[in-house]
Amino acid sequence: MKPVIKILVVNGSPKGDHSLTLQHSLYMLGQEKDVEYKVLQAGEDLSKIDFEESWLEAAIGDIEWSDAIIWNTPVYTMLVPWQLMRLFQLIKAAGRNSIFEGKYATSMMTCFHYYDQLAEDWLRGMSEDLGMSYIEGRTADNMDMLNKTHRASMRFFMNDFVSSCRNRYPVERKFMPYRKRNHRDSRRAKQPRPKEQILIWSSQS
Ligand SMILES: Cc1cc2nc3c(=O)[nH]c(=O)nc-3n(C[C@H](O)[C@H](O)[C@H](O)COP(=O)(O)O)c2cc1C
Repeated sequence: MKPVIKILVVNGSPKGDHSLTLQHSLYMLGQEKDVEYKVLQAGEDLSKIDFEESWLEAAIGDIEWSDAIIWNTPVYTMLVPWQLMRLFQLIKAAGRNSIFEGKYATSMMTCFHYYDQLAEDWLRGMSEDLGMSYIEGRTADNMDMLNKTHRASMRFFMNDFVSSCRNRYPVERKFMPYRKRNHRDSRRAKQPRPKEQILIWSSQS
């Protein structure tokens, strides 16, 4: 028996169990041997403005438990739903960003392919900044799962992802680390443009 890989599916869809995206992740994980998985319903549970500390502690516990995370999310207005962003914000505010370090991550998104690449880039950038090894994810539209070839390719993708986690394959970082602008940078940004520059531009116009 191969070592068991523990995967946390973080569902960003506010639809919870009724999320179409979630059916994709569950289908793929259901085909895998030697995998244990849990679902964290971040989208549904963080939809309410009132927020419970105990929920966050349990979510942090689930993340710590996992070897790898699947960011399972619909695309909402070219990005991920606010609830998923909120999860990142809450963990950061609790000073617990280190729980992500060294884990593998990927994404499963469903959408109608309108700027879904932006949503994935955002998730990838976040994951990389949190010290995770992000492996390119999958996107599907709402009919893809009815297609046999598509389902075969989904199974291949998950098998490959689990194997990368199990063997701890090295993963190349895609994005430069996010750098906070420091105080000097912001002071420089506020300085007025030099007069000569203004003159040159106005003489050209
Ligand atoms: C408010 C809203 C915004 C959406 N924005 C996009 C979008 O920008 N690009 C896109 O391709 N799909 C967009 N969609 C479509 C959803 O991503 C798609 O319906 C998805 O399959 C829903 O997944 P779920 O059932 O897991 O929540 C949007 C849907 C909603 C409700």
